[in-house]
Amino acid sequence: MSLHTNVHGKHGDFAIEATGLVKRFKSGKGFVEVLKGVDFDARHGDLTMVMGPSGSGKSTLIAALSGLLRPEQGRVDALDVDDLWKLSSGRIDKFRLDHCGFIFQGFNLFPALSALQQVEVVLKFQGLTPAQAKKRATEALTEVGLGHRLGQRPSALSGGEKQRVAIARALAKDPKILFADEPTSALDGENGQIVIRLLRRAASEHGAAVICVTHDPRLEEWADRVIKIEDGVIIDDQRRIPNPDAVLASH
Ligand SMILES: Nc1ncnc2c1ncn2[C@@H]1O[C@H](COP(=O)(O)OP(=O)(O)OP(=O)(O)O)[C@@H](O)[C@H]1O
Ligand SMILES: [Mg+2]
Repeated sequence: MSLHTNVHGKHGDFAIEATGLVKRFKSGKGFVEVLKGVDFDARHGDLTMVMGPSGSGKSTLIAALSGLLRPEQGRVDALDVDDLWKLSSGRIDKFRLDHCGFIFQGFNLFPALSALQQVEVVLKFQGLTPAQAKKRATEALTEVGLGHRLGQRPSALSGGEKQRVAIARALAKDPKILFADEPTSALDGENGQIVIRLLRRAASEHGAAVICVTHDPRLEEWADRVIKIEDGVIIDDQRRIPNPDAVLASH
């Protein structure tokens, strides 16, 4: 038995632990099995990279882990929740709102809102007062280097800046679990590097379990762990020493 005090909740260093995830989709008259009994875990403070070819089930895995898409079989234990999928949908949504951040390839920003408002909205939804939300949102945008662009709408921001707004929005609530699905694929090398370094810092400095899906093998440099998935099966899982100062080579 361990004598260490468990600072992260009853699942120890694991922020999230899933076993036996099976996800099927209807296809014609039959079903296609997209996750074939996947076991997965991710630790606080780790940047865990999930790599695999298109269609291998990466986004489906993220959705099953984060309570967005119910698997047919398997369970997900996350933070202090045993079996996330046993909760009511309202409590799953609350869990996601309270503890999870999301970053997607397409940024998912509201066109009519300024950078500051994009971040404030989420914080107010979480229950912060307008003044608290404004302060926290300004800090988060400053942390990603956008302190001078607070009033801009997405149409006036570059792709790299939009992705940084999305990261600020995800990080502002200091999520314990951060899901990123192809966060750099729409960006050039320089902006990709800014984004992957921010994800690295979210793990190292904020202690988040960062789970990052990518096609891009160059991002492995920043990872603590690289998990490979093919055709709904995990085929490789390696720990490595990250290099936070790595330079993203151009394609
Ligand atoms: N809602 C759905 N209905 C039916 N099939 C689906 C659905 N969502 C995903 N699929 C199928 O499941 C498989 C895995 O999809 P998924 O989006 O998880 O792949 P991925 O690894 O994220 O791929 P990419 O790298 O292209 O984003 C694909 O064959 C896809 O067509
Ligand atoms: Mg995908």
